[in-house]
Amino acid sequence: MAARVLVVGSGGREHALAWKLNQSRRVAKVLATPGNDAMAAVAKCLPSPPTGQWGAFARDEGIDLVIVGPEAPLVAGLTDELRAAGVIVFGPSAAAARLEGDKAFSKQFMHDAGVPTAQAQEFHEVDAALAYLDDHPGPRVVKATGLAAGKGVSVCDDADQAKVEVQRMLGDRVFGDAGASVLLEERLSGPELSVFAVVDGTNYCWFAASRDHKRLRDDDAGPNTGGMGAYTPVADATEALMQTIDDTVLAPSVTQLRERDLDYRGLLYVGLMLTPRGPMVLEYNCRFGDPETQVVLPTFNGDLFTLLDDAARGRLRARGQLPQSECGVGIVLASAGYPENPRRGDIVSGDLDPSHATVFHAGTQRVQDEWKTSGGRVLCVVSTDASLSQAHAHAMEAARGIHFAGSQWRRDIARHDVELQSRQGQE
Ligand code: AMP
Ligand code: GLY
Repeated sequence: MAARVLVVGSGGREHALAWKLNQSRRVAKVLATPGNDAMAAVAKCLPSPPTGQWGAFARDEGIDLVIVGPEAPLVAGLTDELRAAGVIVFGPSAAAARLEGDKAFSKQFMHDAGVPTAQAQEFHEVDAALAYLDDHPGPRVVKATGLAAGKGVSVCDDADQAKVEVQRMLGDRVFGDAGASVLLEERLSGPELSVFAVVDGTNYCWFAASRDHKRLRDDDAGPNTGGMGAYTPVADATEALMQTIDDTVLAPSVTQLRERDLDYRGLLYVGLMLTPRGPMVLEYNCRFGDPETQVVLPTFNGDLFTLLDDAARGRLRARGQLPQSECGVGIVLASAGYPENPRRGDIVSGDLDPSHATVFHAGTQRVQDEWKTSGGRVLCVVSTDASLSQAHAHAMEAARGIHFAGSQWRRDIARHDVELQSRQGQE
């Protein structure tokens, strides 16, 4: 019997999840809550019920599987509420979602698991943190330990800059209780890599690795953002590197989850830095990444429903790296003022249904017969192709064909690997 699947969330990641699930022969209907106006093309969108009524909501809608997109409801315990009502859910319990929701917990977890990561120390008091910085000059990263919508990390060049951040996060509480303590972390360097493992509590497999582009402007200039684009596969992620990541990170992390009796049936996102000392973990996230999902899912050669349903039921059959059919490049179009102060209400015009790209919506609204911007990251334009350079060219072409006042987007997503491959082709 074909299934009814509910996706929780409203961004580009959830649009991509609903789009891919909609292609499964085993899925009768995709529903989304709250979803967004563009997702209505692939899912029935419904307002979200209040806490305490999710079980009844899932029962009334005849839901066979719930997939929770964003971290906030996972950390708040949505999975636990649904499971208590007998609903099958892809997403970790609140206790396990602390891997993302509490960076001090996460760091301790990595130490206990023997996973390579930057040295870090937690501080609850401004004075103690400042004294530590006096004793340990040099580049540091200051991190609010709680959830701060991706903004609670500051990469600092020296102790003076780090002190300013300590004062802001811990003293002035600019992130509220998320900054009730901070981690002062050794600053690593190297290219980054995102690895998405599907975990069923005991077994796991992973999607082809992808790379996000966090800074606002080309050549990694400008402020950090939620992510301005992504591509997959990544040339650095050779079979040998993925084997190392499996041996040193994925396997020990999943073992540690079991040893701590944490119920993790969901997506374990490992954010890595490829340092001269080998791959090191910057962070765990307890959900799919955004915008990486928008390139990982369209290039995944398999049935997403079967994969996530198997994991949610603790009976994953897939092992190792999941098959990938093509290369994917996704370019985020962000609104004027993003990330500090995104402007809403600009009219979006141009071709939102281009022939060589798929446009996932993150911050748009349908107003009468026009699309308007309604958030920071507005769209993610994704092209797939057998060649990364062709995927890149098509995504660029599609991005050029979409317009709104103040639109910001990077021209260099995937450029590093496109140029690398073009040089290799000439040799
Ligand atoms: P996080 O949310 O912990 O992944 O941090 C966000 C971004 O900050 C990462 O994607 C990195 O670009 C950067 N970052 C985090 N931790 C470190 C570190 N220890 N060294 C250098 N950069 C870091
Ligand atoms: N792409 C970064 C994130 O999802 O956290």
